[in-house]
Amino acid sequence: MKLNLTIAACLLVSATGFAQEQAPQLGKASVKQVVAAMTLEEKVKMVVGMGFKMPGMRPARKTNTDSSKKDTTSKEGFQLPPQDPADEAIPEKVAGTAGRLHGIPRLGIPIMIVSDGPAGLRIDPYRNGDSSRTYFATAFPVGTLLASSWDTALVQKVGNAFGSEIRDYGVDIILGPGMNIHRNPLGGRNFEYYSEDPLLSGKIAAAMVRGIQANGVGTSIKHFVANNQETNRNQINTIVSERALREIYLKGFEIAVKESSPWTIMSSYNKINGVYTSENPALLTTILRDEWGYKGFVMTDWFGGRNPVDQVKAGNDLLMPGVISQRKAIINAVDSGKLDVKLLDRNVENILNIILLSPAFKNYQASEKPDLKNDAAITRTAAAESMVLLKNEKSLPLEAGKKIALFGNTSYDLIAGGTGSGDVHKAYTVTLKQGLENGGYILNEKITGSYVSYLKDQNAKRPKPAFFFLLPPPIPEMKTDMELISQAAEQSDLAIYTIGRNAGEGQDRKVENDFTLSADEQANIKQISEAFHKKGKRFIIVLNIGGVIETNSWRDEADAILCAWQPGLEGGNSITDVLSGKTNPSGKLATSFPIKYEDVPSAKNFPGRELDPNFKGNPMTGKPSEVIYEDGIYVGYRYYQSFHVKTAYPFGYGLSYSKFDYTKLTLSSASFNSHLFVSVTVTNTGKIAGKEVVELYLSAPAGKVNKPEEELKGFAKTRLLNPGESETVQIPLNVASLASFSTEKTRWIADAGKYKIRIGGSSEDIKLTKEFTLEKEVLLPQLHKVMIPQVEIAEIKP
Ligand code: BGC
Repeated sequence: MKLNLTIAACLLVSATGFAQEQAPQLGKASVKQVVAAMTLEEKVKMVVGMGFKMPGMRPARKTNTDSSKKDTTSKEGFQLPPQDPADEAIPEKVAGTAGRLHGIPRLGIPIMIVSDGPAGLRIDPYRNGDSSRTYFATAFPVGTLLASSWDTALVQKVGNAFGSEIRDYGVDIILGPGMNIHRNPLGGRNFEYYSEDPLLSGKIAAAMVRGIQANGVGTSIKHFVANNQETNRNQINTIVSERALREIYLKGFEIAVKESSPWTIMSSYNKINGVYTSENPALLTTILRDEWGYKGFVMTDWFGGRNPVDQVKAGNDLLMPGVISQRKAIINAVDSGKLDVKLLDRNVENILNIILLSPAFKNYQASEKPDLKNDAAITRTAAAESMVLLKNEKSLPLEAGKKIALFGNTSYDLIAGGTGSGDVHKAYTVTLKQGLENGGYILNEKITGSYVSYLKDQNAKRPKPAFFFLLPPPIPEMKTDMELISQAAEQSDLAIYTIGRNAGEGQDRKVENDFTLSADEQANIKQISEAFHKKGKRFIIVLNIGGVIETNSWRDEADAILCAWQPGLEGGNSITDVLSGKTNPSGKLATSFPIKYEDVPSAKNFPGRELDPNFKGNPMTGKPSEVIYEDGIYVGYRYYQSFHVKTAYPFGYGLSYSKFDYTKLTLSSASFNSHLFVSVTVTNTGKIAGKEVVELYLSAPAGKVNKPEEELKGFAKTRLLNPGESETVQIPLNVASLASFSTEKTRWIADAGKYKIRIGGSSEDIKLTKEFTLEKEVLLPQLHKVMIPQVEIAEIKP
């Protein structure tokens, strides 16, 4: 009997050993073999993440009968869905990340970690309540600021530093960059995004992705696509024409996919023309994979979409953060024949192909010691190089050692970046006060003292945000007292006032007291301007903003205006570098500043209308609603230029402490074959070394479709040119640069005729022009007729 048992045990051991040996291992066997060896449950685990830890909330427990241990629910009634206790029991390797993918040890598949967000790695800075060891990350300049550099090499360098932190903290994929279009200045997440222009967005995103991924970690370009508002983001139905979709909203993603191969893409929360993006095979398979050749995988935004089976079918490979009910639904669908397992296999393969590249798969031992000092130096320079000087009446740069009266809440409480998942846990933020002091400037103590004590008091009583990712109510701007201002004007050489604006996930901005200045801000500006100008002293305004604001009504009061956007953790130093002239500003606006909100082409239909007034929503669910993109392709400068609407500061605008001359605009040929090289010589005619952004706009001949007055088709930034020095930059144009999307033919078409190249220092400041001819119409490849709006859209036309 004993012998029999031993034999049986031996057989069992060798059988399991045999099975172990036989199980194909990821990396050794082919991906197809690994998938073939998976059980259905394993496949489904691969396409559904391991769940989510939401600050202050526990997931619901079906078995929880003890009413004293009620599941934590947010004030708005949102509750996390039940999660798999087995997953919850697996300790987190990196605390505070946004999610994990399942691992399957028997097949050699590791757990992969994904983390927010676009402006720096968002992880918990402390672990297990131990504050002696910290895990801070660098808050880099926000997307809109980086895009204002128009400098892909610089952005790639920032990406490289960013990627090294992702790698060094043991994360596999960063949930960024964000690259939705600035359709409307009130978009709550505009700060995370680059521009109103798809070419600039695409080129900057591609540079960021290349920089990050050079570290052997991945990116997730987001939110794919037409997620241009936060209001009702989970239910909004975006109704948009095929042409606007292709030319404005998809174009940047297409460039990033083709020029940087991001490991992953995050589908967005919204519907487009009636279908959730994460459930739309036309978007995720036909356009993304068949037309653009994308090879990575697609993940949902957190809890995005409704139907997991439709998501699998659509080619939304991974559902994040992952909910048990999704796993059940997919298994049932396969079992009942409603989902072809081949589609599931396809998605698993897409994911495994990326896991093969990951630090987790390579068993990379993270140092947990990124070079934060080095990255702080990079962010300091990158922010300074990207800031946009909007106005300068012989006031900047500042001479060394000046006495400054520093006004404005955010001079003392600088906003490094916006809120929500894009907010980075950083070790510090250099305020403008500190930056100016570091730069050797002397601050008026009375003014400084009054702000410091006001903010201390206000911060202590500031209510917590209503929901963890929402913005707490802003601290009201301190009202300055005329007597204090007059004294300061007497004692100081100049005044600086900072206007601050913050925003973020889950909420759009408002027009009143946000896009426009509050009455207190206006009064402060008037008083400071009057007091300092009376004494013949300068008044400088700094914009520490995440989104565009109104400037027309107050800009005359200031002698200089610097748009610093949200400049990252070294912000105060970066701003001082520009004010002092250590860095000659060379940023140009990546987004237009309209004169008034009503001038914005989407003002009439932003953020759309709610369809069910009785629907009880919360910040996670939103309400059923729709928005109609009647602005069509006329977004930003495409509108202002074509409809002759004046802006306060146009797209592409930005001053320097130098002056630049543009000469010798030369085309490689007078007629267009497959491509053309445009060269132009830029000379620094100023007294200070500086860089210049050269912008190439194109006016296409009238054809069958209406075309904008001009469109950005290329750009270049010079190296640092010394006074008198020149550089000839070359910008390529290919036939795709000439083409518009024809809805009728479902393809891009370059019309025959005369094209005008306009070389500008901004979209309005055109310095040189030249024409070339395209002899014959060129048809680009036939595309698929998909994502068609179900209703007529009354698109505006010039
Ligand atoms: C945001 C994403 C983010 C994700 C994970 C979502 O609410 O929209 O941008 O990456 O959460 O935190």
